[in-house]
Amino acid sequence: MAKGVLKNRAEPGFSVLLLAAGKATRFKSEHSKVLHRLAGKPLGEYVLRAALEARPERAYMVIGHEAPEVRKTFERPGLTFIEQTQQLGTGHALLVARRELEQCPSATLAVLVGDAPLLRPETLRALVEAHGKARAAATVLSTYLDDPRGYGRVVRLGAERSERGQDGGRVRAIVEDRLCTVAQRKIREVNSGILCFARIKLLEHLDELSNQNAQKEYLLTDLVEVFQRAGEKVLAFPVEDSLEVLGVNDRVELARVEKILRLRKAEALMRDGVTIVNPEATYIDEEVEVGSDTIIEPGVSLLGETRVGRACVLGAGSTIAGSALGDRVSVRHHSLVTGSRVASDASVGPFAHLRDGAVIDQGARIGNFVEVKKSRVGRGSKALHLTYLGDATLEDRVNIGAGTVTCNYDGVSKYPTIIEEGVFVGSGSMLVAPLRIGKGSYVAAGSTITEDVPPESLALGRARQTNKEGWARERAAGGSEAAAAGRPRSSTADATAQGGKPSIKPLRKTGDVAVRQNGSVTVIELMAEITKSGVAKELAQSIRQAAESHHKQLVVNFSHATSLDSGATGELVAAVQAVQRQGGHVKLSDLSQEAYQTLEAANLHHFFEIHPNEADAIASFGKAGVSGG
Ligand code: UD1
Ligand code: MG
Repeated sequence: MAKGVLKNRAEPGFSVLLLAAGKATRFKSEHSKVLHRLAGKPLGEYVLRAALEARPERAYMVIGHEAPEVRKTFERPGLTFIEQTQQLGTGHALLVARRELEQCPSATLAVLVGDAPLLRPETLRALVEAHGKARAAATVLSTYLDDPRGYGRVVRLGAERSERGQDGGRVRAIVEDRLCTVAQRKIREVNSGILCFARIKLLEHLDELSNQNAQKEYLLTDLVEVFQRAGEKVLAFPVEDSLEVLGVNDRVELARVEKILRLRKAEALMRDGVTIVNPEATYIDEEVEVGSDTIIEPGVSLLGETRVGRACVLGAGSTIAGSALGDRVSVRHHSLVTGSRVASDASVGPFAHLRDGAVIDQGARIGNFVEVKKSRVGRGSKALHLTYLGDATLEDRVNIGAGTVTCNYDGVSKYPTIIEEGVFVGSGSMLVAPLRIGKGSYVAAGSTITEDVPPESLALGRARQTNKEGWARERAAGGSEAAAAGRPRSSTADATAQGGKPSIKPLRKTGDVAVRQNGSVTVIELMAEITKSGVAKELAQSIRQAAESHHKQLVVNFSHATSLDSGATGELVAAVQAVQRQGGHVKLSDLSQEAYQTLEAANLHHFFEIHPNEADAIASFGKAGVSGG
């Protein structure tokens, strides 16, 4: 076994066995509990670190559920894994470890549970020491809880009820919560899950464990009763701060412990001179370093191995992960910085994204909606608005205009862009990589640059502008087409606007309505009384159909109709409006006096364009100068 963590051990000699084979049953999770993330690290990492920091002679970890992942996550020199393929209880985990324990050199074995992340190494050492001094066979690390539910109760000899002040009393049993009597349930002293054993005695009695209980599990805690029956001395060692032995058995407890860890870290930083505006709404991983006089606004996350210098301001909602920031750096609201470096006096954000090895040199400025990937931005350079810099190198004092993009990817490979010192890139430029823009050059706004630019040049890469004078005026005078521009368009109008000539489809023939074409004008002639049932509908349908087939100039000839009623008028108005919406025109001709009066009575004689006869109506289209489309 490697000896990495084992040298320099302090007395008394002891070894640790960490139980971590269980599934996260109460997490309702498929994953091992020790792999669940707590304040940025796997849950099991905390107690493992505390155990190793206490300098044991040997360190063992019992793994089972998701063993390969767990092994990979926690592997380190000096740690021996023991596999418990079937998880039949904490006592069974010890049975499985028997062979290793027989070879263990230590007099004392501390058994730890994987879900006690707040345990301190000092407490573990104190437990081991107390255990050694008292020459006990076993010592339970206990604590007193106001709400002991869920924990195993420490039942002391001579009293079913255990109170403070009886700490000296030997322990008769540890009874799991679900197996407690009513009286035992009231006991406030609980088992932390962490126990010390005299190793030889443990091995002597281990086989006396049975699974003959309601759980059908081998319970490590049953060893206390076994020892007691054998006349061995079992003691409890209560820890002062009960938080230290808080077990994490579900996600509510996970969040509770996360909050405690976050607050501890925030408080340590605040004591070291960092201002944290709202510590409860700030998420700082344990190994993060922050210099004094830095201000951290609410909602900031500092994750992984992140270093922040002095006098920085980290704006609300920003996340900085695995990154290094110099002094006086400003990260403004809602920026995301991952795996990147920002030198002193630089500023980033709001809403900036630095990633994958972005390097922002001293005094450089990255503004809003700017993404920088695997790129270096030289001293004093600026990219302040709506820009993407990928695989780019910007030397010093480069100015990148709004909306500039380094086009670094052709769908297969990534290519570099090099922008030399003092270059000015105008807004809206597309810099197609691979590309080098020489020192002191200018790129005109709106350019697409595909070839290298020599130093001290102006690169213009855009189509020349042409102005067509009077174009809009002519368009406005163009009548129906132009007038239609502001309205919701039919497919007809769209086709026209796109310059395509709409195709005029032949029209359907019906009995009561005749349709014929006169030049660009479509004449729809009523062949029956419009008041006759169904005729008005048929007329309206013909009008609509004509318009939909790109006939825009319509005349409705009423010469075979004498009367008109409100129902027919309604149909007619709706059809005419439909045509107008598509940019077409409908005119009426040959109305009888009676029909005209009906329109007049309804005040609709101005709504329709009415002509005395068909020829006039057709001619009037020509006069207005409306083209047939
Ligand atoms: C355990 C204690 C309980 C104590 C509580 C404190 C036992 C029987 N009970 O209960 O008295 O108050 O911790 O938090 O010890 N494990 C294995 N193999 C198995 C079963 C479990 O390695 O077959 C591991 C788990 O992965 C876990 C640890 O043992 O790390 C404890 O198991 P858990 O189910 O959390 O026990 P608790 O019910 O919390
Ligand atoms: Mg537990």
